[in-house]
Amino acid sequence: MPGIRAPSNYSEEPSRHPSLKINAKEPFNAEPPRQALVSSYVTPTEFFYKRNHGPIPVVDDIGRYCVSVKGLIEKPKELFMKDILNLPKYNVTATLQCAGNRRTAMSKTRTVRGVGWDISALGNDPFGTNILREELMLLSHNISEEEPVSLPFLSSPGVMVTAIWGGAKLSDVLELVGIPKSTSTTPAGGKHVEFVSIDRCKEEKGGPYKASIPLSQATNPEADVLLAYEMNGETLNRDHGYPLRVVVPGVIGARSVKWLDSINIDSKECQGFFMQKDYKTFPPSVNWDNIDWSTRRPQMDFPVQSAICSLEDMNIGTNGKIAIKGYAVSGGGRGIERVDISVDGGKTWIEASRYQKPGIKYIADEERSDKWAWVLFEAEADIHSNTEIVAKAVDTAANVQPEKVEDIWNLRGILNTSWHRVHVQVRHSSL
Ligand code: MTE
Repeated sequence: MPGIRAPSNYSEEPSRHPSLKINAKEPFNAEPPRQALVSSYVTPTEFFYKRNHGPIPVVDDIGRYCVSVKGLIEKPKELFMKDILNLPKYNVTATLQCAGNRRTAMSKTRTVRGVGWDISALGNDPFGTNILREELMLLSHNISEEEPVSLPFLSSPGVMVTAIWGGAKLSDVLELVGIPKSTSTTPAGGKHVEFVSIDRCKEEKGGPYKASIPLSQATNPEADVLLAYEMNGETLNRDHGYPLRVVVPGVIGARSVKWLDSINIDSKECQGFFMQKDYKTFPPSVNWDNIDWSTRRPQMDFPVQSAICSLEDMNIGTNGKIAIKGYAVSGGGRGIERVDISVDGGKTWIEASRYQKPGIKYIADEERSDKWAWVLFEAEADIHSNTEIVAKAVDTAANVQPEKVEDIWNLRGILNTSWHRVHVQVRHSSL
């Protein structure tokens, strides 16, 4: 591929923010401390989680970089950056969530395959907000080798963040090769749009990362699928897909392919590892001996999710008020209708307040709200004895998070959307 190359080792990795929790060093996988998530609606780029399956590609000559669009179409084309930049630019605020978000909690029920780590943090007055440095010292460790199917655990609720993505709409790009808006099948029988990257992944036996989405979604301008070249108002950085990545809002992060090399219009969905042998959900009865990957479809939309970010899994504090803050999000562009908080382990509930942009009231599914982005929530409670605090969200289709992780356990540990629980131990003052 001209202008961009995929290193075969990790000697040319970019530098990263020191406070990221590193879950695996090579390939580099890291997430921000959970409290960083609720400090701003739009996540600063350096705190954005990084999910990779190989060394980060290097651009040597941006002038020569191009994306080839081919397959079951009449006018295959090579598109250079200038062709993409000439198209109308859109800014879309969207949350990206890895399907492995909250995987460690799922693994505590029954082990899911992979290299894992857990959070063990202690809070102090007021309820565990001053422990960040020590916690990071404990948690930051490196894992150098992984088995092909042993993807790193991305466990705390930090594998999900929100950015303002700037780029061209895929529906406009596809028009350049003769596919009109709102097309579900091309005259030659193309029904899927495959995105092929440049990075080399062990799971693909040294080949590139790839994924696909239906052509109907790709050509629907309302679906806001972007070929993004900007993130939070700046040129996309190397970790997040420079020079060009796909952003598929409302869909698990695995379909938002970074370092785009080619786009193929095909009659079938992508046959790559990450579409066919990963990122599918199975019932709890399926194990590694009886799994048949072909029986399930690749996961696309993510389900309704929420997590408490102002508290660690275990907190110690004194009698009194406690702030409960976190995020809630649903896939497919559905808004968040409600976030329920319990401070007695799920017996009784109060409703949290929800917000996106400062000064603008959040109303789910209203035009002023960002339909592809999370809402942050906030509640306050008086805590006088040891307890479990729980969060669950309800989306605008009345989908609600399941209570127990056991009911949604799956061997790859994806889509853990069970009620998020944190524990508080109250230390009574001896004075
Ligand atoms: N694209 C390429 N080329 N290689 C990858 O490893 N990882 C995918 C997706 N796109 C991946 C990729 C996964 S699983 C996720 S969750 C998101 O990128 C993470 O994007 P981020 O690292 O920008 O947060």
